Amino acid sequence: MNYTRRQFLGTTAAAVIVGGMKAQGTVIGANNRIRVCTIGFNGQGGSHIKDILAMKGEAEYVALCDVDANVRAKGAALVKAAQGKEPKLYKDMRDAMQDKDIDAVTIATPNHWHSLAAVWACQAGKDVYVEKPISHNIYEGRQVVAAAAKFGRIVQHGTQSRSNGTLIRDMKLMHDGFIGKIVESRGYVYKNGNRGSIGHGVPGAVPESLDWSLWQGPAKERAFLVNKDRKKPGLFVHYDWHYFWEYGNGEIGNQGVHEMDIACWGHNRGLPTSVHSAGGRFGLEDDGQAPNTQATTFSYADGSIMTFQVRNLGSFEEAMGGNCGNSFFGTKGFYVRGKGFFSYKENKGGEREAIAIPENAPKPPKGDKWQRFFAAVRSRKPADLPMSPLEAHQSCVHCHLGNIAFRAGRSLAFDPKTERFMDQALNPQLTREYRKNFEVPQIA
Ligand SMILES: NC(=O)c1ccc[n+]([C@@H]2O[C@H](COP(=O)([O-])OP(=O)(O)OC[C@H]3O[C@@H](n4cnc5c(N)ncnc54)[C@H](O)[C@@H]3O)[C@@H](O)[C@H]2O)c1
Repeated sequence: MNYTRRQFLGTTAAAVIVGGMKAQGTVIGANNRIRVCTIGFNGQGGSHIKDILAMKGEAEYVALCDVDANVRAKGAALVKAAQGKEPKLYKDMRDAMQDKDIDAVTIATPNHWHSLAAVWACQAGKDVYVEKPISHNIYEGRQVVAAAAKFGRIVQHGTQSRSNGTLIRDMKLMHDGFIGKIVESRGYVYKNGNRGSIGHGVPGAVPESLDWSLWQGPAKERAFLVNKDRKKPGLFVHYDWHYFWEYGNGEIGNQGVHEMDIACWGHNRGLPTSVHSAGGRFGLEDDGQAPNTQATTFSYADGSIMTFQVRNLGSFEEAMGGNCGNSFFGTKGFYVRGKGFFSYKENKGGEREAIAIPENAPKPPKGDKWQRFFAAVRSRKPADLPMSPLEAHQSCVHCHLGNIAFRAGRSLAFDPKTERFMDQALNPQLTREYRKNFEVPQIA
């Protein structure tokens, strides 16, 4: 179906009433399974499908949506093998949004689609699991937060560490002052492996299986580029869009958003008052735009700081087996993710003295990311989620601020209350020019 904006919003407005009523009641299909549709499943969405199919009794696949027919066929086969029949298949997510048999969507499209898909789903009365980052820019993240609240939907963000029991316990200890006041939080992402050259693009034919116009969605329309150096359908598809500003958020918004989210969780200060970021895309011969080497510093109203580092050229830490991590420095000790709490005192031999976890430490809630999502869909309580949409938004704001400061090439002052830059000239960068019919609706 071809949609104009008016047509689409008209149809979803009707569904909102259904969704609004459903939000108050209980779920769901006749067999009490939550009826799911995954949107975008070439890579991570394929994991959604496998994970959810394995949760027999909890959920069932009624539909799948992808703009690439080859991907649709792969997903349909997976579901058929597990459930005995093919799900409904959609190419245009607006058709899926109108399907009343769908209770919840999981979104694993490229980043430039995340917020629009999530807001449309909320408007259509569906619950949402949206991959990280929740937004491609600061404006649209805000709209997802507002849409979840306004339409009474359950919205969970795909930073799965928030469901890690050890981290939940340790974060609570830190928030309760276990190592004093946290004055510096640090996150780092040192990945080389699959982060090499992505090649060069040249104008060429769009693969027959792909709807290039729908893939672009809210992004500026441009000609398709084939990849002349790599055996891939195109320069941007699939996966390598991460390193182009129109679609992705660079490495800080790719693997980085996981560590950024943990850094923000532990630091627990909301948004910063200033940001500085520097680096470059070094050692690669390709068309990628985003830096593969980037150091970003945030400071907060109380003087505390967060430092975040991306390095995709390899690293000492990577050689030692720790290519992504976090540490938190308090006034009385420090915490290293995966290692535990330590005092600043040096033992003989130069090692730091470990601080034991107290016996009465808080017990974290049980359940992985999917169990917690489906539990919240059933309970209708956003508090049952591993994180709120606002927390997700704030972690992603840090990634966006890092990239804006990197591209501006200077330190930027930010107002955490209004989520605007002090320098008004920068404020257009809080959002983007949306393509007609693909605007992220203003809800906040
Ligand atoms: N949480 C995690 O650990 C984790 C891991 C990997 C990826 N991710 C996230 O998952 C998302 C997808 O990553 P990927 O590596 O699978 O990317 P990908 O490019 O391999 O796959 C994206 C899929 O979305 C489809 N698509 C694009 N626009 C669409 C639209 N409008 N409607 C329906 N389908 C559409 C594409 O055809 C493709 O099949 C990214 O946002 C990424 O950040 C999360």
